[in-house]
Amino acid sequence: MKKVLKMSNGKDKEHKVSSSSISEFYKKTHDQRLDTLLKFGYINHTDIETLKSKDGGLPFERANTMVENAIGVFGMPLGVATNFVINGKDVLVPMVIEEPSVIAAASKGAKTARVMGGFTAAMSSNTPYSIGQIQMLNVRDVKSAINRIHNSESKIISLANGKREKDPHIKRGAKSVSCRTIDTPSNGTMLIVELHIDTDNAMGANMTNSMCEAVSPFLEQICNEGKDGSSARALLRILSNYSTHRTVTAKGVFAKDSVGGVDIVNDIIAAFEFADCDMYRAVTHNKGVMNGIIAVANATGQDSRAIEAAANAYASRTGTYRSITQWSKDNNGNLVGEIKLPLSVGIVGGVTKVHPIAKLCVDMLNVKSSNDLACIMASAGLAQNYAAMRALVTDGIQKGHMSLHARNFASEAGAKFDEIDDVVKKMISKGDVSVQGAKDALNSIRLDD
Ligand code: MEV
Repeated sequence: MKKVLKMSNGKDKEHKVSSSSISEFYKKTHDQRLDTLLKFGYINHTDIETLKSKDGGLPFERANTMVENAIGVFGMPLGVATNFVINGKDVLVPMVIEEPSVIAAASKGAKTARVMGGFTAAMSSNTPYSIGQIQMLNVRDVKSAINRIHNSESKIISLANGKREKDPHIKRGAKSVSCRTIDTPSNGTMLIVELHIDTDNAMGANMTNSMCEAVSPFLEQICNEGKDGSSARALLRILSNYSTHRTVTAKGVFAKDSVGGVDIVNDIIAAFEFADCDMYRAVTHNKGVMNGIIAVANATGQDSRAIEAAANAYASRTGTYRSITQWSKDNNGNLVGEIKLPLSVGIVGGVTKVHPIAKLCVDMLNVKSSNDLACIMASAGLAQNYAAMRALVTDGIQKGHMSLHARNFASEAGAKFDEIDDVVKKMISKGDVSVQGAKDALNSIRLDD
């Protein structure tokens, strides 16, 4: 089956629904890899030019409009994780990350999950709601202020939506208002007004902040009503990155035999329980999960700090910091993994609008909504977590890490592309994975030729 997508830049890109299981992708040259992606319909000829450009796809002139005081552009490796099937569709997952083993591990985890049909993922709600907070100070009668706010909900919503409200084609915007009180050490009971905003396919930070600022004068006015001498004022007007109305769940079943048997399944569950019951382990375990999620966030131009902060807060929602994933066995003894976390992402606006590679990566994913992207990111996190635990309970993490580090050492020692695999093999068989080990291996390979 083929479908033609109209790209945001006006290009037509043909997306064949191709397999994401591309054998020995890592052994191909740069050109061969790009050619494979082209044939599979993930990228087009213009994308190839962008991916091969000397400026890493972000010209300085563009970078200079993104931040103050720009002095250059910082390159990072962009790769694709293979083997992902998410909600029945093959997905090639772009990842930007400096750590050598992450893309290989995600691909491995996805390969095992693929045996049982891959991942199923869904958002808690079809509507991605962002939360905007307005902190009200000096409200004398909080209870009656809350009543007046509830009675004025439609007016607050219409002030938040401004011009947007008159356009029937724009579905996104503020939808409801709620109030909370918090007890503070020196400011007494504080009233927090929250806007719930449908951000559609945008992450929506700017929209949310603007709406909070737009409604604040009216909130100050109604919080003052009827109170002599009260001077309620709105202090902070800002989105909450704890985006609990945008949670995503992803699930994968890892067949007992593909995992390596019942003992390994049991050991993975023991590894999970260690993380779930011990904060020192949980932080590292969740860091492994975020290796997958943040690599996709980087590639697609998301606000990775917001994602990290929300995920870690969610991991502590019971009052104790725990594993962000859950692992158990089904009735057949297969390993079942599940992840749930708030994930606030966008496929329009923000960095996706200005960074050519981020845009290319979003296009490559062929997602129709920000919810689709969140489902992919959660699945990448789960695959990563499985692969890390599988390695930890079997060979240990260093074996896989070292063979990838060995590739870095081989190229540092001067190995050409077609020599790298042999140098790595030799270094590992000699047990000397170092720059010197790579130099020795390279010399001996060249002498043999
Ligand atoms: C390394 O980046 C990530 C791991 O430490 C995760 C884990 O320990 O589960 C391997």
